[in-house]
Amino acid sequence: MRVLVIGSGGREHAFCIALKRDPAVSEIHAAPGNAGTARLAVNHTVDVADPASVAHLAEQLEADLVIVGPEVPLVLGAADAVRAKGIACFGPSAQAAQIEGSKSFAKDVMAAAGVRTARSETVDSTASLDAALDRFGPIWVVKDDRLAAGKGVVVTEDRAHARAHAVELLERGHPVLLESYLDGPEVSLFCLVNGDQVTPLQPAQDFKRAYSGDMGPNTGGMGAYTPLPWLSQQTVDEIVDDIVCPVAVELLRRGCAYSGLLYAGLAIGSDGPAVVEFNCRFGDPETQPVLALLRTPFGQLLRSVADGTFLETSELSWEPGYAVGVVLAAEHYPAKPHLGDTITGALGEGLVLAGVDERDGALVSTGGRVLTAVGLGRDLTAARAQAYERMGGVHLPGGHFREDIALAASNGEVTIPAKR
Ligand code: GLY
Repeated sequence: MRVLVIGSGGREHAFCIALKRDPAVSEIHAAPGNAGTARLAVNHTVDVADPASVAHLAEQLEADLVIVGPEVPLVLGAADAVRAKGIACFGPSAQAAQIEGSKSFAKDVMAAAGVRTARSETVDSTASLDAALDRFGPIWVVKDDRLAAGKGVVVTEDRAHARAHAVELLERGHPVLLESYLDGPEVSLFCLVNGDQVTPLQPAQDFKRAYSGDMGPNTGGMGAYTPLPWLSQQTVDEIVDDIVCPVAVELLRRGCAYSGLLYAGLAIGSDGPAVVEFNCRFGDPETQPVLALLRTPFGQLLRSVADGTFLETSELSWEPGYAVGVVLAAEHYPAKPHLGDTITGALGEGLVLAGVDERDGALVSTGGRVLTAVGLGRDLTAARAQAYERMGGVHLPGGHFREDIALAASNGEVTIPAKR
């Protein structure tokens, strides 16, 4: 099977690593890819925001399967354009990808499906902002209503900070979404969805704040681990049965059946799981540790979803133990990442590259999130130790990473708030 991966992040390098292990995959191509995918695949130039050029490349390469990684090409219709050429594609249609691309569509689907989520209001002018802010708090959640790669979110107890972020978005012409704060630890549950067939991967947790101790601004994600020792199988089943399945059925009912990876971001609060957001793709950096433990051949699995033959009764197989991924970010990430710095020690087992290119034989940073060091172990302590040991061999001037990825979970300190 010849596979084309669209995207250039850590998620796409992790896809290539998993595809390489699948005996049914004979060739891997990546577009645009990065220095990590280049070691496992043939990289090609493509404009990911142009569905026609994605489909044209797939046709030129005679790909048997296209895997679209990021949300932007999916929301713009890359999967539709590839499928229109008669090529199997893993990823939802543009219409179904609205579950991530349009917050109001997502809220509407969730309301129709009876799914618990945050109360929200969209604000499109500064004139109505103050009154709307008064209806929220004491913790304000302010989101960019458009795609913002996780960086458009501010969660704060400081009303002035919330207001300033909303004003900045409005001045850029972006509508603002205000949401009530959901309490409890967060879970990322990736589900393979084929119409009304839903199968979860192992649950993960990611770390959105830039610095240790959950300090600093929100980022695209600074680390993740899987599975979650504090989350019961019963709660995972509840999330699938009461949240993801009803949403998949609602999308089917609306004539935009979902095919691909539906990522439920949840908070597990005192009243049970509630949806923070849905994404139409694998999450980054959770993908790196999750795929590190997946034994089921990845190419064949995604192909079965793309072909519509995947059933929720299909069994997935996992390595025992835990995986932890720690992200190395460029200096001044997320505000103004410094790019173009030389990275050393970045090639090796468990190092999944993101914003890294090769120039004149050297690896240089090209993105705010540079790589993820993934460690495995029989428990979280061992997996953390291996991840940080691997990170210890990497050098990037000004680079920073969190010291506390999966620390609370490994100390047994993650708790779900008691039922009210
Ligand atoms: N881990 C956050 C995201 O992928 O959006």
